[in-house]
Amino acid sequence: MPRILGIESSCDETAAAVVEDGSRIVSSVVSSQMATHSKYGGVVPELASREHLRAIVPAVRLALEQAGIDLDDLAAVAVTQGPGLVGSLLVGITYAKALAIARGLPLIAVNHIEGHIHAVASQNRIEYPALALVVSGGHTHLYEVGEGFVYRLLGKTRDDAAGEAFDKVAKLLGFGYPGGPVIDMLAPYGNPQAVRFTLAKMKGNTLDFSFSGLKTAVLRWFEARDMALEVAARRELLASNHRPAREQWLAVTPQPTLDVLASFQHTVIEELLRRAARAAEEIDARSLIISGGVACNSGLRRAAEGSRLPYLVYFPDPSLSTDNAAMIAAAAFPKLERREFADFTFRADASLSIG
Ligand code: KG4
Ligand code: ZN
Repeated sequence: MPRILGIESSCDETAAAVVEDGSRIVSSVVSSQMATHSKYGGVVPELASREHLRAIVPAVRLALEQAGIDLDDLAAVAVTQGPGLVGSLLVGITYAKALAIARGLPLIAVNHIEGHIHAVASQNRIEYPALALVVSGGHTHLYEVGEGFVYRLLGKTRDDAAGEAFDKVAKLLGFGYPGGPVIDMLAPYGNPQAVRFTLAKMKGNTLDFSFSGLKTAVLRWFEARDMALEVAARRELLASNHRPAREQWLAVTPQPTLDVLASFQHTVIEELLRRAARAAEEIDARSLIISGGVACNSGLRRAAEGSRLPYLVYFPDPSLSTDNAAMIAAAAFPKLERREFADFTFRADASLSIG
């Protein structure tokens, strides 16, 4: 029962986890920087690197402690190589390399997107070929996943990722960062049919996405109203409490704004599921995997699970949806079996791709 220590630091979470046999999560520690970035409406790269430096040693120590093991009980160390913020990735990679060299452990470099896919694949009996929709703050990608984890990119966003659209709309309307969870929480209080947002027609590959037009449409809607006071009230609320409760948000969010949030979310969900269904049909998928931070969205889960599809739909456990290191350790397991080790000179790759 080989145990892998996973390390993840690609964006704004410093995470460490121990996974046994590629699927049994023995410990998973996520140290979030949300409080640091919230007031800026997005991740500030310099602050992220500094926070990773502060958090990495305690996160690894805690993951080992919670697993009740020490470094000698590990079969390998796995770390995210990319994609992500280069300064953030470097912290995890440098630490993982040092650990592996000092302990004579094999080192495994993992693609973050592959990690998101394994967050689902490692916990379920997936039938292949599968279609994977990886939808987060950095990606909105459709992949065909074949037996043995062979990937083929089918479509991707041409501009903003879906999570980025959630974050930008939230920032614009004074809801802070990250935007997805707040919009998800408030959307049920609005009318999803209130505002009709239309998405740009895609030329060329029709499995590609585009969300920047939608963001601009929300901006137009916003500019057409005098919303300065309500936005100021939300910013003030955020300044006193970085994670306001639902009631506190509702108290500073009038109905028309709730309606626009609901309509925006509805449009994103429809778009994601429409293209995913088309792609699944094209490859004759036997399962659909939806993962990444936006896979937490309750509206998306409800819509996907409620639609009658000729294949099973799999979501990660919510704790494995947003960035974590268990998914990195899980993704490393097939590489350990194939003895696909990284040499110690590998570098962080901000735009690493799969497929
Ligand atoms: O996977 P993740 O933690 O980091 C990246 O790899 O980007 O995803 C973070 C993204 C953010 O954009 C955040 O707003 C979004 O996932 N997100 C959500 C929800 N929870 C997180 N979006 C919609 N609904 C949610 N409940
Ligand atoms: Zn991610």
